[in-house]
Amino acid sequence: MNRNREMLDPVVMGHDASMYSLFHYLREHDPVSYVEHPDFEPFWAVTRHQDIKAISQNNAAFLNNPRTVLVQREFEQALLAQFGTRNGLETLIHMDNPKHRKLRNVTRDWFKPGPIDRLEPQVSAIAKSYVDKMEDMGGQCDFVKDIALLYPLRVIMSIIGVAPEEEAMMLKLTQELFGGQDPTQTRGQEVSDGLAVLMDFFTYFTGVVEDRKRNPTGDLASLLANALVDGEPMETLDQISYFIITATAGHDTTSATIGGGMKALIEHPGELARLRDHPHLGKQAAREMIRWVSPVRHMMRTTAEEIELGGKTIKAGENLCLWYPSANRDSQAIDNPDVFDIERDNRNQLAFGYGGHMCLGQHLAILEVEVFFRELLPRLRHIELAKDPEWVKAIFVGGLKSMPVHYEMR
Ligand code: HEM
Repeated sequence: MNRNREMLDPVVMGHDASMYSLFHYLREHDPVSYVEHPDFEPFWAVTRHQDIKAISQNNAAFLNNPRTVLVQREFEQALLAQFGTRNGLETLIHMDNPKHRKLRNVTRDWFKPGPIDRLEPQVSAIAKSYVDKMEDMGGQCDFVKDIALLYPLRVIMSIIGVAPEEEAMMLKLTQELFGGQDPTQTRGQEVSDGLAVLMDFFTYFTGVVEDRKRNPTGDLASLLANALVDGEPMETLDQISYFIITATAGHDTTSATIGGGMKALIEHPGELARLRDHPHLGKQAAREMIRWVSPVRHMMRTTAEEIELGGKTIKAGENLCLWYPSANRDSQAIDNPDVFDIERDNRNQLAFGYGGHMCLGQHLAILEVEVFFRELLPRLRHIELAKDPEWVKAIFVGGLKSMPVHYEMR
């Protein structure tokens, strides 16, 4: 029986045990697997680390346009009709060179390690306010809903320059965009509901662009609103899409890592004690949590020419889906991949992708995760699960939806 269709089932993908068991099976039996499903255009699923890395680093042979993430056929067609592209948006992740390089250069320096390190006091202050909140909640909270979802949201919104009173709306829109298959997060099952979510993003960020053109403040929004590409202002669709990817990619992923990282520390109390007693391991631990959670489940590429991969012939113009959580548990590339080890050398992990599209916000993401646990652990005497956690049912960005905990602060 071919199990590859299971990767399109948000219930299988919405739980780490079932997802990793499926990927283990596919790496062993069918690492480059042709997937056909009534609701999706066919594609090749790639599950081995070495193949995913090789494809990601060859941006000329493997294109991001026109199919970037797995979207149901019906919705893809509606996007094509409404926006003229199968993706709907025109963000960095949907573009190829030379345009991709030019637009990435607009914020490249802003996201480099040096400037990101200078944000540390601001990020630490926000992390501390959420640890204070845990203390105020008196020993029980839903760690995901009360803390992990909100802290990275506050960080990225303060960086972009979105006012605190708009954050709840941004969180809801992001969940509607990424968690669209989860009945508790979706706006509705109709294609028009998905389009309405995109239109709400457009309306909001069009207002922000107009404001920052009139009143530039030095924040990231002002940089994006006033940027020139080849000496000309950015196209409106490119500009609004840039806001959308920064606002959405900038928190759901990091929230999922902090929620899943906390769960991993609860399940591995030895690692929790090691990190608390050796705070200099913070950056390595953050990288391990990111590998462990791999919140971005996949990205897609389209072949520019016919290739051979894993003994299969893939014609020009066919689509490949790269499954990052699978790469990060591949024992051919990573020693003892099913062991959570905060001191491991994580240079080879692929949670941030690889090559020309490798995550622009990776240094910010690592800083946020590191700083949060550095603030929390010295003040935390004990923590345990109060109930089984719940997972978001999603095949694109995944993670925990809810994790009630009991804890004692020092
Ligand atoms: C743990 C957190 C995060 C993970 C696991 C993650 C993962 C990823 C992955 C897998 C890609 C695609 C890479 C590829 O195709 O090779 C990506 C792209 C991107 N990420 Fe992240 N990300 C995270 C946090 C962030 C943050 C905090 C931001 C901040 C704004 C961000 C902004 C972006 C952008 C703009 C892109 C598109 C880059 C391009 O196509 O050139 N991400 N990310």
